Amino acid sequence: MLTVAPESGAGCQEGAIRHWSRAAIVGTLDVDMSTSVPMPLGGDPPGASSGPRVVHAAGSGTSGARAGTSAVAVGVAAAVEVESLSKHYGEVEAVKAVSFSVLTGEVFAFLGPNGAGKSTTIKMLCTLARPTAGRASVAGFDVERQPKAVRRHIGLVFQDQTLDDQLTAEENLRFHAVLYGVSHEQVAERIDRVLRLVALQDRRADLVSTFSGGMARRLEIARGMLHTPAVLFLDEPTVGLDPQTRALMWDDVLRMRDEEGVTIFLTTHYMDEAENADRIAIIDYGSIVALDTPDALKRQVGSDTVELVTADDAAAGARLASAGFQVSSGGDGLVVFAENGESQVARLVETAGVAVRNVHVHRPTLDDVFLHYTGRQIRETPADRSVGRSMRARMARRR
Ligand SMILES: Nc1ncnc2c1ncn2[C@@H]1O[C@H](COP(=O)(O)OP(=O)(O)OP(=O)(O)O)[C@@H](O)[C@H]1O
Ligand SMILES: [Mg+2]
Repeated sequence: MLTVAPESGAGCQEGAIRHWSRAAIVGTLDVDMSTSVPMPLGGDPPGASSGPRVVHAAGSGTSGARAGTSAVAVGVAAAVEVESLSKHYGEVEAVKAVSFSVLTGEVFAFLGPNGAGKSTTIKMLCTLARPTAGRASVAGFDVERQPKAVRRHIGLVFQDQTLDDQLTAEENLRFHAVLYGVSHEQVAERIDRVLRLVALQDRRADLVSTFSGGMARRLEIARGMLHTPAVLFLDEPTVGLDPQTRALMWDDVLRMRDEEGVTIFLTTHYMDEAENADRIAIIDYGSIVALDTPDALKRQVGSDTVELVTADDAAAGARLASAGFQVSSGGDGLVVFAENGESQVARLVETAGVAVRNVHVHRPTLDDVFLHYTGRQIRETPADRSVGRSMRARMARRR
């Protein structure tokens, strides 16, 4: 079932999925829904019907106009724009004045530990939670003033599974098509296409209850793409999946971006997969602590290190230092700080002038980045913070 902030009242109609019988769904699809279906998540507030902030939005007038076009507000370079956005739940400051933008066609990842504010941010962007302060727009539409237009232009995959497992894959998609007003002529083609995008075309007639966790997740992503959204929000799409399925899902995500031009905003607490994103915002305790490309983030925390174990570390260290390298002695060997460590290995070995027994190049990882900016590792609980601080101190000494 959907997790929807109670204050919004949104999601009620999606919640009704459970109460629809299979026959009703299949029967309903015989009707051309392109002009008659209300938007699934409610409407804009009265007086909020002005167009997108920047220019003109394709298909903003009728729900059926969405399918088959990747409509964004024309001329909007940023698919998502967020300015000083905050959300408080009583005393809890879940999101604290975050600002960022996501470019059209970008894969943008929110990386942070449990409770960092990832889902809350997504809920505000998807109009399912009302911001306490600040502003945000998605596909050129303001989330508070134009929620209906925002909903029409987004796909959303929640952290918890929301498929009806008593329906087949195709029936789940058909129901979504009705909710989102995908026109009758386009439904079959879109269903074929999205099932192909996630390689589930052979399972279309199977009940979702027979699917593995990974297959169900991929079907949810396909469903999120069915109405050709401009921005697809994926909240922890790979959580709990095995590494192989996670890799397949990333293939799906990148394929969707490449073939459908959709902008992807996803959250994760897996460092390794965040590397697939074009840019990463690291969020911790409701604040963005760093935002850049994976490579740039890693560069920010320091250069590569090359660990050398030699036959005579003292002599090798002296020669390397006099050749201008920054060298320190590690536990059992030498540590040399070097840009592009791999490409320097041959020169280091030659300069050392003694037998080199072991070489290991260490590139900064996103783990190092998180540690650098937050003082702890992503898996640590707040109670472990003192350990994190001492690790950071160790890292700082190394650099
Ligand atoms: N409806 C709510 N009422 C009160 N507090 C909430 C509510 N939703 C979230 N919070 C609190 O806001 C903070 C951020 O929660 P959020 O769900 O956004 O984190 P998250 O980064 O998505 O974490 P996770 O990785 O566990 O999904 C947490 O302290 C959480 O307890
Ligand atoms: Mg979450």
